[in-house]
Amino acid sequence: MTDQLAKLDVIERLERKYEKLFTNVYENAAVASKIVADEIAALIQQKYQQGEKCVLGLATGSSPIGVYRELVRMHQEEGLSFKNVITFNLDEYYPIERENVQSYWYFMHEHLFNHIDIPAENIHIPDGTVAEEDVFDFCQQYETAIRQAGGIDLQILGIGRTGHIGFNEPGSGINSPTRMVTLDSLTIADAAGDFHSEENVPRKAITMGVGTIMQSRRIILMAWGEKKASIIKQAIEGPVVDAVPATYLQHHNNTEIVLDREAAADLVRFKTPWLVRQVQWNDRLIRKATLWLCEKLNKPILKLTNRDYNDNSLGDMVVSHGPAYDINLLVFNMLQKSITGWPGGKPDADDSQRPERAKPYPKRVLVFSPHPGDDMLAMGGTINRLVEQGHEVFVAYQTSGNIAVDDNMVSKYLYFTENIAENLKVDIKKINNELLSSNPGDIDGEETRRLKTYIRQAEAISACRFLGIDEKHILFLNMPFYETGTIKKASLTNNDITQIIEAMRTVKPHQIYLAGDLTDPHGTHRKCFDSIAQALDNVNTDSWLNDCRVWMYHGTWKEWDIAEVDMAVPVSPEELRKKRTAIFRHSSQKEVMFPGPDNMEIWRFAIERNRDTAIKYDKLGMAEYEAIELFVEFPINEKG
Ligand code: F6R
Repeated sequence: MTDQLAKLDVIERLERKYEKLFTNVYENAAVASKIVADEIAALIQQKYQQGEKCVLGLATGSSPIGVYRELVRMHQEEGLSFKNVITFNLDEYYPIERENVQSYWYFMHEHLFNHIDIPAENIHIPDGTVAEEDVFDFCQQYETAIRQAGGIDLQILGIGRTGHIGFNEPGSGINSPTRMVTLDSLTIADAAGDFHSEENVPRKAITMGVGTIMQSRRIILMAWGEKKASIIKQAIEGPVVDAVPATYLQHHNNTEIVLDREAAADLVRFKTPWLVRQVQWNDRLIRKATLWLCEKLNKPILKLTNRDYNDNSLGDMVVSHGPAYDINLLVFNMLQKSITGWPGGKPDADDSQRPERAKPYPKRVLVFSPHPGDDMLAMGGTINRLVEQGHEVFVAYQTSGNIAVDDNMVSKYLYFTENIAENLKVDIKKINNELLSSNPGDIDGEETRRLKTYIRQAEAISACRFLGIDEKHILFLNMPFYETGTIKKASLTNNDITQIIEAMRTVKPHQIYLAGDLTDPHGTHRKCFDSIAQALDNVNTDSWLNDCRVWMYHGTWKEWDIAEVDMAVPVSPEELRKKRTAIFRHSSQKEVMFPGPDNMEIWRFAIERNRDTAIKYDKLGMAEYEAIELFVEFPINEKG
């Protein structure tokens, strides 16, 4: 047990009885990053006052970006000095040039070193350019340099979905030293976004070993977003196994795990709180516990017995809300009422038991889609129903999505365009040369980006037309934060929010749909979500909002948990075929793979996910459908 865990009082320790690492969970990544940055700053200052060097172990990736941003701010605004700081980075791809925008050398300078006063000679990053035969010596020197600096005072870590720390992939030994390693295929898939495709990701890396990391006097591991939830559960609650290298940290007595709510969601104290503390039962929690029990016992809702509840730590729920028969009916009815073939409400029907109200009819519906195509992937079936049921559907594409258009696709279009349009106002030769000379990951010129934007717009129009959406109802917002030409996006500004507000005020919708993913705190979907949340705050006195409901769909990473769902829209076999055709109209995206071990195209993944959802409802004892799309209501009335 780590020292910090041992110091907790008994109630807190019991609540965390499944956790073998000291863990703190914060409201969001920004708040948590600030706390980590504060600790680093305090350490630097304390060491400075003692006349000592402060030795920091640093990580790259999306997890520490907020910490670096805050440290830079403290340097610029509060005079925090890094003159007494020595840094050792965890890892670097191999082979890779420093100047390459994907190198960790580049990353560290862009996010931290270029903006602070650390002496260049105090910075150590594994070198991706040493000759292969010299790598062994280089790694030994790296270890020696850490020892000579006095060892690492504080090591910052992220965690990969394989459970890697540094690039110590599954199978790494607890005593492993700094060395060259081969990257896991899941890690390569996760890095594919940065390198524009999997083929471009280096297969190897130089990394500090687990043994090197374990010698640090203090370790802080950070993880944000729901895509980390499952590996975080294994790292914190699982047994120590070399298949999940992060579990080795359980042997380190001064490690702290810092999480946002989404990354912590699978820990026992959040996912199944009734197992570790007394809970206040309400309908939602009863539903969550009952569905958990169904999954655990592989039983449909209506077959659960008092004994099932009692044997599985739900005895007090049966005492206060039971017997089992009543609880089963309550939960069954909750689910039943959430299933509707009328996502826009059923006109002239009693709507007291339905997720959407009957009036007004028809409704104006505004669907926000982070990229062109997300709309069809997530809710093509529902859009089809809304149109067929006579609602006025508008779609607002929040970003251009241009960086996801492959150069080959542009070349094809150029060939076509060159042959038909003589007076086109783009310099075709120039773009062609740019494409021919560009390397994966290079920033596209403005004209190329414009072409890629048009390609995605043409595809989106075609998909919307196929589902019967009026062309005048398609809005391309091209939000400015996205237009960096690279994977890394700019921060949201007023210009972005204004676009959303204008779209809302133009349509005055009765229903809004948006991507509710909180997967990647720095990703496009998260920013698109934030922009809509901020816009809703801004329009909260507009009268149309009183008659508007907001529904969240989920992006590709993870479907909603059925226990949270407010509206489930069945999709028939015929509708699912239509959905697939609508997705295929986004032809530049057809080959984009879902990053994961199963190597599946995203479109296939989306369709399979809808089918899997239907199977889950069937297993719970609900009607058997071909596929189901899920939505959670965004509580605007509780806002502002
Ligand atoms: C980075 C590193 C990796 C990352 C991990 C998580 O230097 O060694 O272990 O910390 O892959 O990456 P992100 O933070 O991008 O999710």
